[in-house]
Amino acid sequence: MYPLKRNRRLRTTAALRELVSESTLSISDLLAPLFLIDGSNIKESVDSMPGVYRYSVDLALKKAKKLYDMGIPGILLFAKIDQKLKDNSGESALNENGLMQKAIRQIKKNIPNLILCADLALDPYSIYGHDGIVENKKIINDRTNNVLAEIALSYAKNGADIIAPSDMMDGRVYCIRKILEKNNFVDTVIMSYSVKFASSFYGPFRNVLDSNPSFGDKKTYQMDFRNKKEGINEALQDIEEGADIIMVKPGLPYLDIVNELSNKTNVPIAVYQVSGEYSMIKSAEKMGWINYKNVVIEQLMSFKRAGASIIITYFAEEAVKFLKENE
Ligand code: PBG
Repeated sequence: MYPLKRNRRLRTTAALRELVSESTLSISDLLAPLFLIDGSNIKESVDSMPGVYRYSVDLALKKAKKLYDMGIPGILLFAKIDQKLKDNSGESALNENGLMQKAIRQIKKNIPNLILCADLALDPYSIYGHDGIVENKKIINDRTNNVLAEIALSYAKNGADIIAPSDMMDGRVYCIRKILEKNNFVDTVIMSYSVKFASSFYGPFRNVLDSNPSFGDKKTYQMDFRNKKEGINEALQDIEEGADIIMVKPGLPYLDIVNELSNKTNVPIAVYQVSGEYSMIKSAEKMGWINYKNVVIEQLMSFKRAGASIIITYFAEEAVKFLKENE
């Protein structure tokens, strides 16, 4: 009781605050998303996400090397698929010379120790911009799973270390795990987007990939943002189905889910600070309304405090700079 207890005592000096700090943010916690586009020597800026670019494979390789040299342990690949290659079932995602496959091969060959994660979903390949096969305006679960499993195998064969299904179909982790085991890819990691909410924070990203749904929304497969128990259920089920890492997405509005999962599970938790979160901070920076560096670090640290061990963030490269400045 006061005055015997003075909470300010341990805040007196920087050294004391450092001594008693409960969370740390390290470069080794970060994964950087990377966007791919067909062609060569292309670095295309994106209106909705200042500082983020689409790269052709040759320049993506250079970028990946830069990130690796900075100490970033891994990247998460996304492909912007040419409109001509889109259909209802993601046929072109299986092409051995598809954009993802080419990028995975090139990067793995040249930077073997960089952790290569491949986002897996149909929406970039879908004429409807949906994460599954569409029939009568419905997203068909089980047929989508079969295709996802085949694509996962193709990514793994080409050298992906981590498959990251972002589609939210039921049972897809099991289907992916099964096909990987059957083909002897026993060490391929599955990082499942387990608790992925139907969120308006994905807006800027969909502009990057030109993947806006052409009808309806994603609420029949992505989660209702009013729910927490359902999210825990999703994650526990994915672990049972063979996920090695579970993910919560978006990040900041869902720290309660991250925290609950860190109490209830014993697998690593990844959090995805998504495009809308990034672009909001960027625009506030542009307006001169915030201390950009401090806000970035504060948000990333909050993920660690909540219990995440992996942070997927568009700030990865800048965060490394900030962390090094603070050393
Ligand atoms: C696609 C996918 C999305 C994101 C990652 N994978 C968009 C969506 O589900 O519509 C969002 C990432 C971001 O906003 O940064 N399945």
